[in-house]
This record gives sequence, structure tokens and C-alpha cells, in this order.
Amino acid sequence: MEPVRVNVATPSRPYVVTLGDGVIGRLSKLLDEVKTPKRRFVVSSPTVWRFHGDRFANACNAEPIIVPDGERYKQTPTVMRVYDSLIKANADRASTLITFGGGVIGDLAGYAAATYLRGITLVHVPTTLLAQVDSSIGGKVGVNHPLGKNLIGAFYQPHAVVVDPSVLGTLPRREFRAGLYEIIKYGVTSSPGLFERVATQQKAIFAREPEVLTAVIGESCRIKADVVTADEKESGLRRILNFGHTAGHALESVTRYRRFRHGEAVGYGMLVAAELAVARGAMPESDRTALATLIASLGPLPPIADITVASVLDGMKHDKKMIAGRLHFVLPTGIGAWSIVDDVTEREMKKALTRLGLKK
Ligand SMILES: NC(=O)c1ccc[n+]([C@@H]2O[C@H](COP(=O)([O-])OP(=O)(O)OC[C@H]3O[C@@H](n4cnc5c(N)ncnc54)[C@H](O)[C@@H]3O)[C@@H](O)[C@H]2O)c1
Ligand SMILES: [Zn+2]
Repeated sequence: MEPVRVNVATPSRPYVVTLGDGVIGRLSKLLDEVKTPKRRFVVSSPTVWRFHGDRFANACNAEPIIVPDGERYKQTPTVMRVYDSLIKANADRASTLITFGGGVIGDLAGYAAATYLRGITLVHVPTTLLAQVDSSIGGKVGVNHPLGKNLIGAFYQPHAVVVDPSVLGTLPRREFRAGLYEIIKYGVTSSPGLFERVATQQKAIFAREPEVLTAVIGESCRIKADVVTADEKESGLRRILNFGHTAGHALESVTRYRRFRHGEAVGYGMLVAAELAVARGAMPESDRTALATLIASLGPLPPIADITVASVLDGMKHDKKMIAGRLHFVLPTGIGAWSIVDDVTEREMKKALTRLGLKK
């Protein structure tokens, strides 16, 4: 199968996402094609490198920099370790930094690439489903601050993204599912066909059958690419990517990022938005049911019955997406349709959270 190419044409840089089963084998050639500098570094994690390092090294000559991943390492000290390695190796402006890992490695090493010598060439080779369909495209890089998630960062578009679904074979099921909720998000905002496909081809997707998986990832990459092409820095359309994220982020933060995988919290967040939309008469009940059924079919989400409505409401008030004191909320109006509203009241939100099963 020939790889699929998806164009991302942001004003700051156009680049291509190359997607195909086994495409890592052609990494060197792909990088040469886009003329990335020959001195190459690869930032990866012990887990990813243990599973896939040999394959990477056989396909591409790069000096490895191994740093821990997981959310609690997405911090400036880990970025410092990347800088240390680059400086000790005398990396100059004519260097390429390749990230090889999940969203944590992509975000933190991408931030290192954006800032080292004011920016060196960056290539993402994402290895989680979430990173393949979401975080590797669009140029958001950065780290957490002890006082809040993703508070330090930049927009820095990569020079290329190479997506190989075959690396997902080693991804734990829970991590895999976490990525699927983001794919459902794209379905609800932008593609009834994708939504349908996740519903009907779930078995093949979980079995990671290359053809089915590649098609679903490709469709998701195209949606994300189109959105960030139209709106690189989130002043308009890009906000739809936050569908399910308002309540989702609040759930993650009130449980101190320990209970949910990000995608799982987004799963709940989409349900909250759908409850709200149905209550307003903006979305048919049958669409809400279809969404709830699909989310439930992926498997159980972590419990929420012990989380209070008030704590989640409070968490939402601290959302970064507040603009001039108003929360811009993505409301689904059907499967594949949305509107953005800024008049959601506390009362409505309380009701939706209660209906979902949070503690009064
Ligand atoms: N930049 C963006 O636009 C954007 C968008 C969404 C999310 N994010 C960020 O992404 C991060 C989450 O990313 P994530 O969900 O990929 O988590 P992650 O990077 O922590 O990876 C999850 C786990 O999977 C392991 N892993 C990775 N690839 C593997 C493989 N092929 N086989 C086996 N194990 C593997 C990792 O070692 C890790 O333990 C968050 O910090 C979030 O803020 C960024
Ligand atoms: Zn997300």
C-alpha cells in the first residue's frame, strides 16, 4: 500500500503528514525528501525505545536522547535534559530533532526543538493513537507548570510528521482507547462517516487491522489538518477541537490528573456537552443516545459518582479557554454538526453534570 499524504498548510509552515503501515522503514528517505538537516537526534522514552528503537535505528541514523515520559515528566526539567544532550553533542542550527513517542514526548521535545538555538528542524513520529491523530499535528508544543497543565508553550509547526500505525501493536488497550475518544470527537464535530466507521468496525480497529486502522487514522488526520490549516492559532474554527474538553479538563484537574487518561475525560466531556445540547433542544435525543452508546461500547470509563458537581464547575472557571470572562463552549447539534455558544449558564451546566452522574 502506498502511503497516504495529508497536507497541513499553516501560514507559518506547510508540511506533510505521511501515513502508512510500516512507513517508519522509509523514514530516512522521507526526511531527505523534505531536506531536513542530516545531523539527526531522536528523543524517545525508555518504553517506546525498548519496543521500537531497533526498528527506528535501522531505518534512520539518529543520535538517541532517552528521557522519561508520562504526564509528570512533561515539565521543564525534562526539557533541560534534552537541551543538555543537544549542547553536549554540539548540535547546531543545522540539526533535526525527531520526536518518537506519545503526546508527552512530542510536546516536550517539540518545545525543546522550538527553543533550542531559537528553533531547529522538528519532525514528529508519534507512537500513541492520540499522538497520531491529534497532538503531532497543529504545532502546539509545551510543558506543564506545577500550578497547571500546558501553561508553558509555543506554536511551532513540525517540518514533517510520519505516522506508522504498526507501532500501535504494543500500545496498552487503555491507551489505545484513550485515542479513540478523540477520534469520536472528530466524528461528532466533522464527520458522520467517521463516527459510523468507529461504531461498525470496532472489532477490526481494536484488532489493529492495518487497513481499517489506517483509514480511521487518515480520516482523523485530515480533519485535524484542515482545521489547523484554516485556523492555526485558535481564534475561530480550531475551537471545535475543544469539543468535550471543557468538562473533560475540569474532570482531569479535580482528580489531579491521576484518575483519567485525557481521552477518557474527553469521553465524559462529550457526554456533558450532548446532555446540554439536548436540554436546549439543539440536538436530537437520538444523536445523544448514539454517542452514549458508542462511548459505552469501547469499555467502562473510570467512576465519577464521587466527584461533586461544584468541584467540576469550579474547575471550568479556571479554563484557559475563557475569553474575557466567558466560556466558549462547543455544542454538538447533531452527529457531524456543531455551534459555538458563550451563554451557557451555571444552572444548565449543573443539570448536565448531574444527569451524567456526578455527586450533587
Ligand atoms: N500538542 C497538542 O496539540 C496536544 C493535543 C492533545 C494532547 N496533547 C498532550 O498529549 C499528552 C498525552 O499524550 P499520550 O496520550 O500519547 O500519552 P503519553 O505520551 O504519556 O503516552 C502514554 C503511554 O504510552 C506509552 N507508549 C507510547 N507509545 C507506545 C507504544 N507504541 N507502545 C507501547 N507503549 C507506548 C508511553 O510510554 C506512555 O507510558 C498530554 O500531555 C496532552 O496534553 C497535546
Ligand atoms: Zn484532547
